[in-house]
Amino acid sequence: MSDVSGITSTLVLSVFTAVLGSLQCGYNIGVINAPQKIIEQNYNATWLARHNASIELSTLTTLWSLSVAIFSIGGMISSFLVGVRAMIINNALAFLGGALMGLAKLGCSYEMMILGRFLIGAYSGLVSGLVPMYVGEISPTHLRGALGTLHQLALVIGILIAQVFGLDSLLGSPELWPLLLGLTVAPSALQLVLFPFCPESPRYLYIIRNKESKAKESLKRLTGCSDVSEALTEMKEEKRRMDMERKVSITQLFRCRIYRQPLLIAVVLQLSQQLSGINAIFYYSTSIFESAGLEQPVFATIGAGAINAAFTVVSLFLVERAGRRTLHLVGLAGMMVCAVVMTAALVYISMVAIFGFVAFFEIGPGPIPWFIVAELFSQGPRPAAMAVAGGCNWTCNFIIGMAFQSMADACGPYVFLIFAALLLGFFLFTYFKVPETRGRTFDQIAAAFRRTPSLLDHEVKPSTELDCLGPDDNA
Ligand code: GLC
Repeated sequence: MSDVSGITSTLVLSVFTAVLGSLQCGYNIGVINAPQKIIEQNYNATWLARHNASIELSTLTTLWSLSVAIFSIGGMISSFLVGVRAMIINNALAFLGGALMGLAKLGCSYEMMILGRFLIGAYSGLVSGLVPMYVGEISPTHLRGALGTLHQLALVIGILIAQVFGLDSLLGSPELWPLLLGLTVAPSALQLVLFPFCPESPRYLYIIRNKESKAKESLKRLTGCSDVSEALTEMKEEKRRMDMERKVSITQLFRCRIYRQPLLIAVVLQLSQQLSGINAIFYYSTSIFESAGLEQPVFATIGAGAINAAFTVVSLFLVERAGRRTLHLVGLAGMMVCAVVMTAALVYISMVAIFGFVAFFEIGPGPIPWFIVAELFSQGPRPAAMAVAGGCNWTCNFIIGMAFQSMADACGPYVFLIFAALLLGFFLFTYFKVPETRGRTFDQIAAAFRRTPSLLDHEVKPSTELDCLGPDDNA
């Protein structure tokens, strides 16, 4: 590639357009937090109008938890469909979801709200697979890591925007909350306007669809060079290797012993991200800060969002220097200490601890699990592994969203000690089982797992390694 920097306006536009999806995913993670009280009042009013009686507290908690957590059920289901490459069509889910949530008040219906959250969750599950994949495929090799992290960065910026808009002086008021929730269609609209100007991924066009001239055209636009033969040769090599490699299904992934260790690591890292309790903060921080005694809890929520975004940038710069394993360990250990300190009765100490908890999250457990899965697997099993990892991530996201309120009601301020214990477990797992992947090619990583299945399974014999795939799978 003759252009040294590799950054062209088409590349910038394409990456920007894609991460609008991540932004929207983050927006919907953060948006539900600040207006909790107001929307609960609306649910109560709806209940009163329908049943002529006030809603019971436990019913209200269930309805609210469901409104929060059904988002992740949508994500859970759709993350298994990442193979369907349809970012444009996916926007239909966002429009529909946004409309339902935005009109729920008018329709006097919490069912509309819950269904809208489900659809926008399904949109987000697809985004969390499609965006990193598209961005990775259109990026020149030397920028792939940096551009890849923009998914998490756009996501955390989305969370922050939602928190700011959720202020009652802005859109978090009894009159304007429907607009706050409906606004999610705005990035989708912008994305639809911009997408026609973005080229389809050349790797997808050539390697998967076999369309060489279209791939060439797309490469020319992305690189700004008229001679793209070098990049094309590289893609040809990738296609040759891929044609040789078996495509692995999800069941085969589980059956085959050589994938057992990387799969276990990929899944536990997703669990460490979600069961750290991070979304207890992002879904419920306003009420957490309130019960800690803060007078202006919403501003503390915004503070947490700002720290979240700032430390994602820190991690972006550290990850190629310090390595994934080290950052993940530092993040988990820091979160664990903060989770313990959070139980302190003193308001400001616990607020600082919550901020620290969020900062340590974005040092490692936030960004790393998303991209390390792709590093742990080679081309053949990668899509199946991404689907399994994404599914586990969203499942745990759901469990926390659903259970946290009741857990907090039962345990009071000590609820974060549960997360501290889980964090300790994840720290030990990472310390003993997770290898460093920085600076190693996919091939070297896969080869290391083949050589040392010993960490988990001493008995794998090379000759039987791939038997589980069966003769027909090597299409
Ligand atoms: C990660 C998590 C997501 C969380 C966010 C917080 O993207 O997957 O669940 O809300 O980080 O920044």
